[in-house]
Amino acid sequence: MFLLLMLLFLLLEYVCCNVEAKCLKGYNVALASYYVSTGLSLDDITHLMKSSDVSNSDDIISYNKDKIFNNNVFYFDKINVPFPCDCISDEFLGHVFVYSAAEGDTYDLIAKVEYVDLTTVELLRRFNSYGQNGIPKNAKVNVTVNCSCGNSQVSQDYGFFITYPLRPSNNLHDIASEDHLDA
Ligand SMILES: *[C@@H]1O[C@H](CO)[C@@H](O)[C@H](O)[C@H]1NC(C)=O
Ligand SMILES: *[C@@H]1O[C@H](CO)[C@@H](O)[C@H](O)[C@H]1NC(C)=O
Repeated sequence: MFLLLMLLFLLLEYVCCNVEAKCLKGYNVALASYYVSTGLSLDDITHLMKSSDVSNSDDIISYNKDKIFNNNVFYFDKINVPFPCDCISDEFLGHVFVYSAAEGDTYDLIAKVEYVDLTTVELLRRFNSYGQNGIPKNAKVNVTVNCSCGNSQVSQDYGFFITYPLRPSNNLHDIASEDHLDA
């Protein structure tokens, strides 16, 4: 009897968690919180965050009606950028953006400056083969940004989940009040 229960348990665990939980899909669209640093235009951001959900700046504007006026983004503000929430390597939810490298780009610059911490050097290393010799100019770089299918205990009324990189000065209360949410 014990053995039977044990077997059943193992089987259930295999069926429910090992296979499915890796890529439990919720929404197909996620939002990335993009922190706008000085000198970037909406066109630059559109170019970096291009995907099947963003083909031109209007696709970004429609999610930021209160933040973008006459195609101008405010510096030091965060805008929401929609992106497809795919299943990466059958393992986790995310999307791979393709970035065209500029002269002198490094994984560090791409993760921290171009993609404002939406990705990490670790993820860039994992999904790109460029090694010690650096990244050639105009090379295509796979930029993986995680997304979340959320938590079934959180009401769907909240809508999309946002991938929100924490900046050094952030705390839960600041984020909540910026986004008009309850901490
Ligand atoms: C980017 O990802 C694609 C698809 O997985 C892969 O074929 C390609 O080699 C990767 N690029 C680099 C530079 O490693
Ligand atoms: C993204 O997800 C992968 C797989 O779960 C994880 O290894 C990685 O640490 C995550 N990266 C970020 C920046 O959250």
